[in-house]
Order: sequence, then C-alpha cells, then structure tokens
Amino acid sequence: MRKYFISGIALVLVLAAGWTAFSDQDSQYLERLDNWAFESPRRPGAVFSHDDHIFDLDDDCSICHHVYEDGELVPDESSEDYYCSDCHSLKPAPDNGMPLEAAYHKLCRDCHFDRGQGPVLCGECHIKE
Ligand code: HEC
Ligand code: HEC
Ligand code: HEC
Ligand code: HEC
Repeated sequence: MRKYFISGIALVLVLAAGWTAFSDQDSQYLERLDNWAFESPRRPGAVFSHDDHIFDLDDDCSICHHVYEDGELVPDESSEDYYCSDCHSLKPAPDNGMPLEAAYHKLCRDCHFDRGQGPVLCGECHIKE
C-alpha cells in the first residue's frame, strides 16, 4: 500500500517537472502583441491570437480596429492599417482621450468581463516569457 502511495507521489513529481519544462518552453512560442510602443515595458507582452478573436462570420475587424469621427464611432469602418499607438498616446494628451495602456486594458479586459470568457488577471495576459 505504502509502496503504491510513494510511487504515486513520484509519478506526480515527474509529471509536474515535465509540465513545468513543457510550459516554460512552450511560452516562447505563444503569439504575443508587440509592446514596442511602451518605451520601457514593465511586463512581458500580452498573449493574443487574432485567430481566436475573429468571432463572427462577417469578420468584424472594427470591434478592435475602430474609427471615430468627432468622438463618434463610425460603424463598418476599420483602422487595421494603424497601430493603436498611432492614435492613443503613451501619456494623456488633450487631443486624444485615452492613453495607450488604459485603452488596451479597457478594450481587452472589458470584453472578457462582459462575455465571461478570456483572461482578466494580469498574469494570464502578461504570461512570463
Ligand atoms: C486581457 C489581457 C490583459 C490583462 C488581464 C492585463 N493586461 Fe496589461 N496589457 C495588456 C495589453 C494588450 C497591453 C498592451 C500591449 C502589451 O503590453 O503587450 C498591456 C499593457 C500593460 C502595461 C504597459 C506596458 C508595460 O509592459 O509596461 C502594463 C504596465 C500592464 N499592462 C500591466 C498590467 C497589470 C498590472 C495587470 C493586472 C492588474 C494587467 N496589465 C492586466 C493586456 C492585459
Ligand atoms: C480583439 C481585437 C482585434 C480584432 C477583432 C482584430 N484585431 Fe487586428 N490587431 C489587434 C491588435 C491589438 C493589434 C496590434 C496593434 C498594435 O500593435 O498597435 C492588431 C494588429 C493587426 C494588424 C497589424 C499586423 C499584425 O498582425 O500585427 C493587422 C494587419 C490586423 N490586425 C488586421 C486585422 C483584421 C483584418 C481583422 C479582422 C479580420 C482584425 N485585425 C481583427 C486586435 C484585433
Ligand atoms: C485611427 C485612430 C485610432 C486607432 C488606430 C485606435 N483608436 Fe481607439 N479610439 C480612437 C478615438 C478617436 C477614440 C475616442 C476618444 C477616446 O476615448 O480616446 C478611441 C477610443 C478608444 C477606447 C474607448 C472606447 C470607449 O468605449 O470609451 C478604447 C478602449 C480604445 N480606443 C482602444 C483602442 C485599441 C486597443 C486600439 C488598437 C487595437 C485602438 N483603440 C486603435 C482612435 C483610435
Ligand atoms: C470583443 C471581445 C474581446 C476582445 C475585444 C478581446 N478579447 Fe480576448 N477573448 C475573447 C473571448 C470570447 C475569448 C475566449 C475565446 C475562446 O475560448 O475561444 C478570448 C480569449 C482570450 C485569451 C485566451 C487564449 C485564447 O486566445 O483563447 C487571451 C490571451 C486573450 N483573449 C487576450 C486578449 C487581448 C490581449 C485582447 C486585447 C488586445 C483581447 N483578448 C481582446 C474576447 C475578446
């Protein structure tokens, strides 16, 4: 009985070690957002897969790549040729409302909250490299 118990523990340890090794190695291959626009990033770039975020058959890119005119969202127009940082500056500025970090967090995290799907904790998006 005791022997089985001990070999059970040994097996768990082997699996845990294997899993840690696997996930450490694996995290290098996760698709991440490029965080160059933050001059000295404090976190690893957030994990993000376009493929997992194309929800509807009509491929609505403007959910994230939006266009505003006079403060109003323009439906059916998208801005995927621009970086978020082209419009959202690092520091708050009078001419562009939401600074970059807040804009990312609001877009990404709010949707995950609202849908009850996708990560909402720091370490789940900024996964260690
Ligand atoms: C839903 C995903 C998500 C969650 C949850 C999230 N972030 Fe972020 N965060 C991002 C994205 C996307 C960016 C902008 C691109 C990047 O940095 O990869 C960003 C940028 C940042 C930045 C600015 C860039 C940098 O590295 O200095 C900081 C700081 C940051 N996040 C800290 C946090 C902290 C602290 C938490 C938890 C309270 C958190 N984030 C939770 C997605 C997330
Ligand atoms: C859930 C949000 C989201 C959706 C939906 C989305 N994108 Fe993106 N996309 C992003 C983010 C965030 C970036 C990084 C922007 C940056 O670096 O400033 C990006 C970057 C891009 C880029 C720049 C090249 C690259 O891959 O880094 C292209 C092109 C692009 N998206 C096209 C599209 C198209 C086409 C669609 C619709 C089929 C789409 N995106 C839907 C969030 C999204
Ligand atoms: C072509 C310019 C442009 C691009 C590119 C752009 N935005 Fe915006 N965004 C705006 C403007 C203008 C507003 C409205 C004023 C404001 O709140 O900053 C806005 C508003 C927002 C808001 C607030 C929406 C709300 O409900 O209040 C978020 C969040 C946001 N942007 C995130 C992003 C992210 C993340 C990206 C990149 C995927 C991005 N934006 C790309 C111009 C842009
Ligand atoms: C319009 C809603 C919406 C927006 C905006 C959004 N997400 Fe998600 N995200 C989801 C949903 C829904 C899932 C779950 C998808 C699934 O399980 O297939 C998800 C899943 C994820 C996951 C888990 C792994 C995966 O790909 O399934 C990560 C990481 C993630 N999102 C990061 C982000 C980041 C970073 C941003 C902002 C650049 C973002 N998301 C913007 C809805 C959204």
